[in-house]
Amino acid sequence: MDAVQQWTEGVSYAPCPPDEFCGRHGEREQLLALLPRAAEHGQAVMISGPPGIGKSSLLRWLAYDLQDRPDGPRSPVIRAEVFEPPRMIFSGFRKLLYDLQVHAAAGEFQEILESGGIREAAGYTDILLLKHGAPVEPVDLLPKTGDEIVGVFSRPPDVGYDRVRAAFRELLRGLGSLMRDSGRIIAILLDDAHHTPYPDSQLLLDTIQDLPPGVLFAFTVQDDPGYEAIHDRGVPHVPLRGMRGRDIQEMGQKRFDLAISDATAALLEETAGDPFSLVACFNALRRRNLAPSAANIKDLLDEEEDPAGLAFTAIPGYWQTWARDLSLLSPPLPAPVMACMLGMSETDVTAMADRLQESAVFRRLPGGAYAFAHSLLQEHCRQRLSEDTEVALNARAADCFERFMHHLPGRLNVLLSIASHLFGARDYARAADLNLELGLRFYRFGDYDSALLLTERAVASAEHLGDGDLLATAVNQRDLIARGMADRA
Ligand SMILES: Nc1ncnc2c1ncn2[C@@H]1O[C@H](COP(=O)(O)OP(=O)(O)OP(=O)(O)O)[C@@H](O)[C@H]1O
Ligand SMILES: [Mg+2]
Repeated sequence: MDAVQQWTEGVSYAPCPPDEFCGRHGEREQLLALLPRAAEHGQAVMISGPPGIGKSSLLRWLAYDLQDRPDGPRSPVIRAEVFEPPRMIFSGFRKLLYDLQVHAAAGEFQEILESGGIREAAGYTDILLLKHGAPVEPVDLLPKTGDEIVGVFSRPPDVGYDRVRAAFRELLRGLGSLMRDSGRIIAILLDDAHHTPYPDSQLLLDTIQDLPPGVLFAFTVQDDPGYEAIHDRGVPHVPLRGMRGRDIQEMGQKRFDLAISDATAALLEETAGDPFSLVACFNALRRRNLAPSAANIKDLLDEEEDPAGLAFTAIPGYWQTWARDLSLLSPPLPAPVMACMLGMSETDVTAMADRLQESAVFRRLPGGAYAFAHSLLQEHCRQRLSEDTEVALNARAADCFERFMHHLPGRLNVLLSIASHLFGARDYARAADLNLELGLRFYRFGDYDSALLLTERAVASAEHLGDGDLLATAVNQRDLIARGMADRA
């Protein structure tokens, strides 16, 4: 990309590429100091902080340093990102296993991992994870009574949590011993672990409690009271705060070619020291061709009520339109559904993918789907949709998912998207049954948070429809879930 085009597009809001990573020297040292302990007896570490503080970027830097840095330890890294629930059961762990299988099938670590039959062990564990979640997982999607979409569920053999846990533990042991034989460690990185609902959260806690030698398990969480339990288990903690003046100057220089004075750096440290806000400020300065003076920064910050607003105004108009039109979709965003939402034909998907590659607003996920470069931007767009636009976009999204549902991976995610968009489109007659059904399945499985969210939609739909029987069923289900939550607490 040439310089002029780059400043039109701006620096991406996606996690920072390792070669542009700035500052965080103390935190980097803290992480690297854990490596000998990972080799000796297995080690977990938690990176935490508010949205936009740089958790994913630090994780990405760690992955690079361990695996790809030319004079680094060349240790294999497998990683996954957890998206907001409701989701497929164990979706984050299944992505980790997929990444491990990719490593075992190709590339630098193929030989080590193949020698231990890791690919087969990962495949076996994945099947157990899938079977364990099967009561919530539709085996097919079918239109019911003309125009209502339902999942077709089978009753497969039960695979208890203990078997899943044992298989995962065995897999990690196998990996750890292979690594020790080759004088390395393996790093398992899980981003946004605060999104993991039950039983994923259980597997996370059990795993970090009992890591075998040779394994580093690093995960990020947003500051969240629920994760105090992890502190209590003695897991080392790397909390992230705003960037310091010198790191801000480094970022200005390295990523934006801007010379930041001491006075400007001090102002930024005080007012907009989190990296997301810094990227937004610097992008806005570059786009408007303003000098990085303290006065200009102050004006920019006064203009918008939040950094995501500043970020949004600094992107070109056509990206603003795409961001707004796609803001209601939950990641991973399937390419055909995105194209459909944007009014493109199926044949335009490749052209769309080419354009997305240059975007500061969207990022490509492993497997080919997309996400917003940063969730703060998506949230900003979502919150500013007018009521009418929100209803219309939800209707379009439900229609697009229904149109492509048989070609998309992850049946449950498709069904969950349709359930959400039908409700948002105020198509209460079709939303009620689907949300109620899915809510019941998540309830039976013990994922009460997802169950409650879905069942609340069914309650609201029944109220809008004035359907007394449906309302009684939905309210009854909500009471059951509340009791389940109270019992677990
Ligand atoms: N150390 C850094 N050097 C340069 N840029 C950074 C650094 N850390 C973060 N950034 C940039 O700041 C923005 C936010 O970072 P990141 O996505 O890592 O935050 P996060 O804490 O993971 O946010 P969230 O909680 O919402 O996932 C990104 O645009 C990223 O490129
Ligand atoms: Mg992140």
